Amino acid sequence: MPRIAYVNGRYLPFRRAAVHIEDRGYQFADGVYEVVAVAGGRLVDEALHLARLARSLAELRIPAPMAEPGLRHVLREVVRRNRVRDGLVYLQVTRGSAPREHAFPRPTRPALVVSARNGEGPPPALREAGCAVVTMPDIRWRRCDIKTTALVANVLAKQGAREAGAYEALLVDGDGAVTEGSSTNAWIVTAEGTLVTRPADHAVLDGVTRRAVLALARAEGLAVEERPFSVAEARNAAEAFLTSTTSFVLPVVAIDGAPVGKGSPGPVTRRLMARYRAHVADHAAGEAR
Ligand code: PDD
Repeated sequence: MPRIAYVNGRYLPFRRAAVHIEDRGYQFADGVYEVVAVAGGRLVDEALHLARLARSLAELRIPAPMAEPGLRHVLREVVRRNRVRDGLVYLQVTRGSAPREHAFPRPTRPALVVSARNGEGPPPALREAGCAVVTMPDIRWRRCDIKTTALVANVLAKQGAREAGAYEALLVDGDGAVTEGSSTNAWIVTAEGTLVTRPADHAVLDGVTRRAVLALARAEGLAVEERPFSVAEARNAAEAFLTSTTSFVLPVVAIDGAPVGKGSPGPVTRRLMARYRAHVADHAAGEAR
């Protein structure tokens, strides 16, 4: 079945889906994006993704490309036209195209691109067995709370992890604290069973999955602390895991070659994996928004 993408007001066959060479996303990474999971043909936590998109746009002073109901319609239409059941929808908004000049062009006509596909994320065996991560200095800018397409530091970190035989890079700030993964939020479980993740400050993206897991953990009665944690604390933790739209809750079983806890996914992680799967299933069944 031919894939379709939405590009600035038109639904186009994938091979003809293109933006101009002077699109500011291409030249300056002057844009933002969202990746939304699709389950059973429905969008998971759409409202949270759209709220974060609005925030990212406001922080970069890029006007919204269209009002929210229109955007919701386009997202559904791209999912429908590509017959996506379980997969993801990708949307990107840039400041538009204009002759190259760093300052904002006038007038600004933001550009919107949406695509969707089935599948994605870590293979099922890795989801079950857990993944290895390696630590790396976090060399990104100081506004990682904005979901910009300026991801080259994340790209280099992920590639470094892959070349080290690991699935993900845990990024470490100048104080020796873990910020997040290159495309995931990072969590540990202490020996006492407390769940720890970094607060949603400017050093990390406030993940939609992170938010959902925080709510599920609290509903489970688990002790939760939003605070920075060091690499040493992560290495000595009872359990560790990552969260993201595409990874869901993904156990971490080794950090820099040393096992975390027993070297296999721990009980708290397993419980949250099950709870998060149920959360996604609720969306798939149309029982959540
Ligand atoms: N990545 N931190 C970073 C740096 C990310 O890029 C992501 C998401 C997350 C998790 O956020 P969420 O739970 O909202 O997906 C944290 C997406 C999936 C990506 O770039 O493909």
